[in-house]
Amino acid sequence: ITEVLAIDDEHSLDKALEALRLGELVAIPTETVYGLAADANQPQAVSKIFAAKGRPADHPLIVHVDSVEKVGRWAAYVPECVAKLADAFWPGPLTLILPKAEHVSTVVTGGHNTVGIRVPNQAGVLKLLNRLDSGLAAPSANPYKRISPTTAEQVMYGMDGKIAAVLDGGPCEVGLESTILDISTQEPRILRAGPVTKSQIEAVLGCEVSVPQSHNVAVPGNVKAHYQPSKPVQLLCGEVLASTLAEVSPSAQNDIAVLYYSQQLQTALEGNEAVTMKLSANKAHYAQNLYYALHQLDQADVTQIWVELPPNDETWLDVHDRLSRSAAK
Ligand code: TXA
Ligand code: MG
Repeated sequence: ITEVLAIDDEHSLDKALEALRLGELVAIPTETVYGLAADANQPQAVSKIFAAKGRPADHPLIVHVDSVEKVGRWAAYVPECVAKLADAFWPGPLTLILPKAEHVSTVVTGGHNTVGIRVPNQAGVLKLLNRLDSGLAAPSANPYKRISPTTAEQVMYGMDGKIAAVLDGGPCEVGLESTILDISTQEPRILRAGPVTKSQIEAVLGCEVSVPQSHNVAVPGNVKAHYQPSKPVQLLCGEVLASTLAEVSPSAQNDIAVLYYSQQLQTALEGNEAVTMKLSANKAHYAQNLYYALHQLDQADVTQIWVELPPNDETWLDVHDRLSRSAAK
C-alpha cells in the first residue's frame, strides 16, 4: 500500500527519508509537477522508477538538489553561467543539462554522459533534500506518456500500490514541467519549453539561446505524443471550435468535453450540451490548472476532449508545446 503523508509534518518527512534511504520510491511535490523520486546515489532504487512508470530505460531523469552549491557533486564541472542562472531562477522551474560527474549512474542519465539538475521551489522538499544529503532522481510522477500530476490525489490515481509513499504538498503552484536548458556544449539550447522563457534566459546569459523545433529534439523522452489523457484531444481555435460544435446534434454534444478560456467561446457555448470547463486567460493561472482540468475531463463521461487553442505569444509557448503533444497521434 502507498501511504499519503503531509509534507509539512516532521514525522512524515522522517518516514519519507527512511523510505528513500532504504531504496524505495516516494512521490514528491514540486512547484512544477509532482515527481517520482529515488535516491540518485542508489541505481537499484532509481531503476524502480522506470518500472513504476513503464518508462523506457534510455529516457534520462532529472537530479533534484537543494542548492546551487550541490551542482558540482553531480556535474563534471560547473561553468560560470550556472551561478548567474541559479541566481535568477533557482529555486525554480529551470533544469540545467551538464556533463555528468564520473560517479553518477547511467541508470539516472539513461545512458547519456550528461545529467539534468534542478533546485525545486518547494520548502518541504528542500528540507528533505538537505537531510538526505544526496540528490533525488525524479521524473514526473505519471505513468509513461500520461498527464503529469499536479495534486497528490492525481499521483495516487496512477501510482497507488506501486510506490512507498506520496508526500502531499497540495496543488503545484506552477503546474507545467520545468524549462530544460542544455549548457553541456558551447551553445546553450532549450530542449523543452517551460515556465522560464527563452527571453528571460537570454537576458541573464547575455547571448542568444536556440530553441530547436519542439518535437524535434534528439533526446529520448522528449517525444511527440506525450502528456496524453486516455481520450483523444483535438486543438481548435475558438471560432472553429464553436462552429464545429454547433453542427453536432444536441444528443451527441454531451459526448464532448470542451476546455476553453475565452469570453467569446463562453458566449458561444451557452445552451450547448457539451461538458465544459473554463480556464483563466491569465497564463500563469491557466498553466497552474491545465493538467488538473485535463485530468478531470478525462474522468468525465465523454469520448473526446476539445481544447481551445491558447494565445500565440512567447509566454504561452510551454502551454502550446504540452497541448500539441496531448493532441499528437
Ligand atoms: O518540472 C520538471 O522538470 C519535473 C519535476 C518533477 O522536476 N520533472 C520532469 O521530469 O518533468 P521528466 O522526466 O518527466 O522530464 C524530464 C525530461 C526528460 O524526458 C528528458 O527529455 C530531459 O528531461 N532530460 C533529462 N536529463 C537529460 C539529459 N541528460 N539530456 C537531455 N535531456 C534530459
Ligand atoms: Mg514527464
